[in-house]
Amino acid sequence: MSAGLRRASRHQEEKDDDVPQWIPGLGQDKPKPRTLGTSFFGYVPDAFVEKTPYLPSEQSADALKKEAAVEPEKAAEQVADALEQEIVPRDSIERNGQSAQNRLLIKGGRVVNDDMMQDADVYIEDGIIKQVGTNLHTPGGTRVIEAKGHLVMPGGIDTHTHMQMPFMGTQAIDDFYTGTRAALAGGTTMIMDFALPQRGESLIEAFHRWRTWADAKVCCDYALHVGVTWWSDKVAQEMEELTNEQGVNSFKMFMAYKDTWQLSDEELLESFKRCKELGALAQVHAENGDIIKENSKKLLELGITGPEGHEMSRPEEVEAEATNRACVLANQVHCPLYVVHVMSKSAADVVSSKRKQGHVVFGEPIAASLGTDGTHHYHKCWRHAAGHVMGPPLRPDSTTPKYLMDLLANGDLQTTGTDNCTFSAAQKALGKDDFTKIPNGVNGVEDRMSVVWEKGVVSGKMDPCRFVAVTSTNAAKIFNIYPKKGRVAVGSDADIVVWNPHATRVISAKTHHQAVDFNIFEGMEVHGIAEYVVCHGRVVVEEGEVRAISGMGKYVPTPVFNPHVYGRLEERERANAPCKVERAPYEGPVAQLNGQGMQEGGIIPVQQETFYTRGPTRSGGVNLHDSSFHVSGAQVNDKSPKRPSVKVNNPPGGRSSGSFW
Ligand code: URP
Ligand code: ZN
Ligand code: ZN
Repeated sequence: MSAGLRRASRHQEEKDDDVPQWIPGLGQDKPKPRTLGTSFFGYVPDAFVEKTPYLPSEQSADALKKEAAVEPEKAAEQVADALEQEIVPRDSIERNGQSAQNRLLIKGGRVVNDDMMQDADVYIEDGIIKQVGTNLHTPGGTRVIEAKGHLVMPGGIDTHTHMQMPFMGTQAIDDFYTGTRAALAGGTTMIMDFALPQRGESLIEAFHRWRTWADAKVCCDYALHVGVTWWSDKVAQEMEELTNEQGVNSFKMFMAYKDTWQLSDEELLESFKRCKELGALAQVHAENGDIIKENSKKLLELGITGPEGHEMSRPEEVEAEATNRACVLANQVHCPLYVVHVMSKSAADVVSSKRKQGHVVFGEPIAASLGTDGTHHYHKCWRHAAGHVMGPPLRPDSTTPKYLMDLLANGDLQTTGTDNCTFSAAQKALGKDDFTKIPNGVNGVEDRMSVVWEKGVVSGKMDPCRFVAVTSTNAAKIFNIYPKKGRVAVGSDADIVVWNPHATRVISAKTHHQAVDFNIFEGMEVHGIAEYVVCHGRVVVEEGEVRAISGMGKYVPTPVFNPHVYGRLEERERANAPCKVERAPYEGPVAQLNGQGMQEGGIIPVQQETFYTRGPTRSGGVNLHDSSFHVSGAQVNDKSPKRPSVKVNNPPGGRSSGSFW
């Protein structure tokens, strides 16, 4: 057995948990829960010992896979060697785009979608779900996975990753191979990564660079958001090309990272307007970069150079202010908005209250903000503290994860990402003397499903349907790839996780599949294990063991003008369109302006006598029985610089705050 697989092995252990009623037949046939060893400290000094980092080598698995069409059996063995894994079953190697292992029956499980649960078998052929039901007739040679006592759910969609991202002078250590392999191990079958151009760089070039990196290595499907990291006419034009020709429907704008990616409010508005024109979804990293820069300088001057300075420089209100500003700007130009990595209670409250006001805005907490907190920045071990540095920061208010989970459970927040962007101890140490130089980013892609299950479902905050919604379906809907993704139904992609809700494991950097030597969830015991994972109809995780192949995943285009987002937005814009007040034209005197925009001949006196025919009241006030209108249509205050505002009728559908729509 290879090092990789040894790391993934899990001990069996009996545990008599209460059996939730949504698990069929568990009383008799409860599968054996499995646990992993534990470790107390977040920093795991020997976590690298058994790591076999993927080297995009002389003869990569991807290149070999391409040869499989010619010599499939030889290629299968070579692929296995290249990956330093156990032999990959030959029938899982692609042949002319088709897998020989193309018929699969997942039998006896409970199928969970976001809106229903049913006991049913799922039959898959050529990567697509062909039947869901009972007593299915399946052809001979069909492989069967027994799923009794298990939940059969859509594979997870991680809406926010940064595999091998060049950032802060280094490059994220989990690349598209180790990152997506780890994703599969945890039950995630699709990631959405970000192509982020440098300031001044072509968005299209950045997009293609990311495609090249990803296509060679991804073990699961992926889509790309693209960063609008600067603004110009060229950027606006490239956004159109990306949406029309490259399947991009979401653009991320940064309100932080001053002097590199941060946009001004004016640029934000322009980019939001452009997204609206193109039918795309605007995403924001919501933090006030000007304040962060100012605060960081002050803290460094005070001699606060450690990771705690990172958190101190950008407290909650810095995130909440930017979140509010982004919501207002987007709403004013009728652009749908997606707030990535919601990290604080106050930012989440902003999203939630804007939604209540009718804004088309979505909020994405991440595994980190749902599973741990920012007290770790104050840990005595520098590496431990630095291991938690990301932006916006984890919050020292330890009630934050539960609060965010409540909002997620109840519909105020919608999706879960991870912002997986990992750096080794040595990489983090680039900022050992200056917290502003610690590469920002944490893990999560492997553990997101388990963390959300543990903190969301096991805690009683959400049921399995809501779990499916927030880990998969909502993402598929918001990014317009539903029901191809995010649903177990006939015609959908066979991206499925067979979930053992009772098995437990203890998260550790020693046993995780990621390349990074640290895990922010170190020592956390979680229920819920992806026992089988099926990706495009291929079994890529079997009883917890990963059998993924580099380059096996595909790019998933995301179409614009998503009916789940723009459908409502367009109706809302129509229903709340500004409407003019019909009135007789003004026919009274009009002041003449000279060339400098000044009134000629001084102030034209208000002809009070034409309006007021009754004397003032005894106290000297205006007689309310008097008319303030002239038969000509002139009003008494036509010349007054400060007049009551023009009222706009309530449009059909009601008024909304701060905007016409
Ligand atoms: O700390 C973070 N979040 N690193 C990744 C870049 C980003 O802002 O998403
Ligand atoms: Zn960000
Ligand atoms: Zn990010």
